[in-house]
Amino acid sequence: MSLRIALAPGDGIGPEIMDAVLFLLRESGAASHLDFVPVEMGRAVFEAGESRGLTDAAAKSVEECGLVLKGPMETPKGGGGKSINVTLRKMYGAFANLRHFRTLPGVETVYSRAGISVNFYIVRENIEDTYGGIEHRLTNDVIECKRLISAPGCDQVHRFAFEAARRAGITRVACGHKANIMKMTDGLFLERFRVAAQDFREIEISDVIIDALCMNLVLKPQQYQMVVLPNLQGDIVSDLAAGLVGGLGFAPSANIGHHVSIFEAVHGTAPDIAGRGIANPTSLLLSALMMLRHVGLLNQAAALENALLTTLEEGVRTGDFGDRSRPAAGTMDFARSIAGNLGRTPEKIAGVPVPEQDVPVFVRPARPHANPLLRAFTQVVSQVAGCDVYVDASLGPTELALVMAKIAEPTPFRLTMISNRGTQVWPTGSVFTECVDYYRVRFEVRPGVSRGTIGQGPAVSLFDRIAEKFYVTDFQVLRDFDGRPGYSLAQGQ
Ligand code: NAI
Repeated sequence: MSLRIALAPGDGIGPEIMDAVLFLLRESGAASHLDFVPVEMGRAVFEAGESRGLTDAAAKSVEECGLVLKGPMETPKGGGGKSINVTLRKMYGAFANLRHFRTLPGVETVYSRAGISVNFYIVRENIEDTYGGIEHRLTNDVIECKRLISAPGCDQVHRFAFEAARRAGITRVACGHKANIMKMTDGLFLERFRVAAQDFREIEISDVIIDALCMNLVLKPQQYQMVVLPNLQGDIVSDLAAGLVGGLGFAPSANIGHHVSIFEAVHGTAPDIAGRGIANPTSLLLSALMMLRHVGLLNQAAALENALLTTLEEGVRTGDFGDRSRPAAGTMDFARSIAGNLGRTPEKIAGVPVPEQDVPVFVRPARPHANPLLRAFTQVVSQVAGCDVYVDASLGPTELALVMAKIAEPTPFRLTMISNRGTQVWPTGSVFTECVDYYRVRFEVRPGVSRGTIGQGPAVSLFDRIAEKFYVTDFQVLRDFDGRPGYSLAQGQ
């Protein structure tokens, strides 16, 4: 029985590199187990006025197949059109982005010249973080982007990373973060990493602050086997990592979800070389190999990988390798050379072991009946501790404090702090702190009022009173969760 795979060749060089990859899947025998279902996504769909970038029929096929092999797709510039690549990952819950970065023969880098072999994975959380794209203009001068990190969102990406590490024989996994600054959001990401690690005790764990990680990767990339990262940091570090191994053309990517997984090249549509038959299909081929391994076609994946490595070792290269010493191969010539090397293993570097498993074992999960609701903490007691009211105001901090303290007089709250861009400016602060037209005003339950006795009603009433005088651009009820404050302190508080 064949596995159905939604196939979207993509825009620009997409169709050329996809033809090469499909040819190799046929030559290796893998395609005899796969039934490719063409789907319409990308530029033509955007141009036809569908702002999601995929047709309803494509969405249905993706949901039915659960597996997508896609080429790069153009994101419309300007207008409201969002990246179809990001839409697919988020809409179908492909929560973990797995990328493999390693030195390939013939791909010259400063590390290959120094005899350093780079070989590590990045697992990037794919749904949350600033990628929610939740942005608002709050005042004339200030725009915010909300950064959401959830415990279940962390749990699924960390668990996936540890399971992938176990399968690949990886013994060390590091968590990259910025929890020294974003103590609550990245703090949660790190805390859930440590919790997930308890089920994988054979794997050694560590954590590293993102800036140090970037430096370490450049100085000594061989010290990492796998790094797990939140979405935006993962995005940036992935491209840094691609640079270590020769560029985006050599880095494969898998977006794994519970129901839908998407395998795609990391690079874009390369409009500058599209239609010329000279694009490098390596990234898409390596992504297709991740897909073969995901579904259990381990034998064919290993055979193709060894054939690719042998071809690179023989010196066959597309133009982007920058090797001027020999004529560049076109996309299909490169693919034909790989096909000619099926059954061979590279001589100078280690090939990959070829397992016997050569039929799919993938079982498509049942379609959910309703949106799955993810939960991590269900038995938490929370109590209202106050509220942060964000106002559009161009007063000085002391003047603002006088007005706010007066407004709060008849309520169970007292004014405790005012901050501007996260820095405390009242009751203490520095006159050197530059302010913009957006203040956070913090009210906390007065001494003598027991926290457990008031709900959020009085906080909402306070909001109403403040809204009579100011634009309230944002409002947050402050709560303690199991006695621990669910809010951060201001810088300098
Ligand atoms: P790009 O990756 O398409 O091109 C950057 C440079 O790398 C160009 O010089 C290009 O010729 C070269 N290049 C890329 N892939 C190559 C390959 N396989 N073989 C040989 N050379 C290759 O990045 P750019 O120009 O920033 O983006 C172009 C379009 O692609 C944009 O519309 C962008 O939104 C989209 N894009 C799509 C992605 C996806 O589908 N996952 C990812 C990144 C960009």
